[in-house]
Amino acid sequence: MRQANLKGKASVGKGLFITFEGGEGAGKSTQIRRLADRLRDYARELVVTREPGGTELAERLREIILSGGAKKFGPLGEAVLFSAARIDHIDKVIAPALSRGAVVLCDRFADSTRAYQGARGEVAEAAMDALEQAALAGCRPDLTFILDLAPDIGLARAKNRRGEGAADRFEGEADSFHGLLREKFRDIAGAEPNRCRLIDAERSQDEVAAAIWQAMAEKFRQREHEAEAPAEASQP
Ligand SMILES: Nc1ncnc2c1ncn2[C@@H]1O[C@H](COP(=O)(O)OP(=O)(O)O)[C@@H](O)[C@H]1O
Ligand SMILES: [Mg+2]
Repeated sequence: MRQANLKGKASVGKGLFITFEGGEGAGKSTQIRRLADRLRDYARELVVTREPGGTELAERLREIILSGGAKKFGPLGEAVLFSAARIDHIDKVIAPALSRGAVVLCDRFADSTRAYQGARGEVAEAAMDALEQAALAGCRPDLTFILDLAPDIGLARAKNRRGEGAADRFEGEADSFHGLLREKFRDIAGAEPNRCRLIDAERSQDEVAAAIWQAMAEKFRQREHEAEAPAEASQP
């Protein structure tokens, strides 16, 4: 079934797929809201979604994972569950939206699995690569904002945000884990500079939003340029 989808998914090129990554409290949800408000005048269709989640089945998996119900599976088992949720999300929401030409803003995506489940080095890189390749089936982000922030600041923001509520499965991890997480995200940004923009998220919300908007404007210009020279752009 999924195999039949692969060609179509790999060839989605009309829309724009943007993901937001980073640790707890880095400002992902805040910046997605701001960018969405600004994009409504530009995009012919805007889809705002999140992971884990975005579909009924994936939201159910989200509840299990974030409540800690899958912790006993270990990081590989959790990565498999996140990937299962992602497959449903891509097939039902993201890939169809991109084929319609929508701009898709997604709060966390595959880099979070790499970072969170890979932080302690307990899952072989090759296993992570294979899982990601199978789950994404060519549906890779065009642009990824990695919001970079000292974990103690992010965790304090997250704690402030949730008030009396309990920390979730990952917020409750040790400080050392959150430090590793930041390093992982920075490694990803360094390894894929074309796709990723490392954003200093310690600045004010306005400054972070301005940095994100600048990168978006560059992306739109690049798209226009490609559209003006289609023959050149489609050369192998
Ligand atoms: N640049 C910023 N400076 C200070 N506080 C911020 C900033 N960005 C977001 N916040 C606040 O920090 C908390 C966490 O932000 P949020 O966007 O929910 O982070 P995330 O989605 O990455 O966990 C929220 O209360 C938000 O208002
Ligand atoms: Mg959030």
